[in-house]
Amino acid sequence: MRFEIRRYDNVDSTNAVARELADDGVPEGTVVVAEVQTAGKGRKGDYWHSPRGGLWFTIILRPNVPPQKSVLLPLLAGIAVHRAVKELGVETRIKLPNDVIARDKKLCGILCENRIGEEGVKYILAGIGINVLNRPPGVGISLKELVDKPVSLEEVLALILKEFEKEYEEFLRMDYFFGED
Ligand code: BTN
Repeated sequence: MRFEIRRYDNVDSTNAVARELADDGVPEGTVVVAEVQTAGKGRKGDYWHSPRGGLWFTIILRPNVPPQKSVLLPLLAGIAVHRAVKELGVETRIKLPNDVIARDKKLCGILCENRIGEEGVKYILAGIGINVLNRPPGVGISLKELVDKPVSLEEVLALILKEFEKEYEEFLRMDYFFGED
């Protein structure tokens, strides 16, 4: 996949910006990254605190798969984050379906949104929020508390995209059966 990164300073939500771009037809691999989100979206309609210093981004995907298979995407994104931070020496666990947890605290949240048309999946927005240099609210933890060398948003983004690409290629190849024909 070819990633094309689009950077924004301040947006409401990278998922919302990505949805507009996807509706306008941008290709798979477009990545929307923002320094700050003013209306970051969490799962179940929650607000996602997204100050400067965190890594807030959404990957636009256009897999040619049946809609049922797309339910695996959040897990895939979680695995990619798990593998990426492991390269920085950080051990995490995935709390199903898709929270990435370190030291029993939330390091990363994932919000995938789909658009399904008559011919199947039109696009999937894989939204990933990871606390890096920011101070997370509540029961959260940031990467800077876990890594003993300076860590940059750029480095973390590059690691996650690299791992995500591997998982995604595997996902596209995977046969998928559930239930009876
Ligand atoms: C959750 O755990 O509730 C999911 C949080 C997902 C947050 C990310 S940040 C980038 C993307 N844009 C959003 O508005 N939300 C996701």
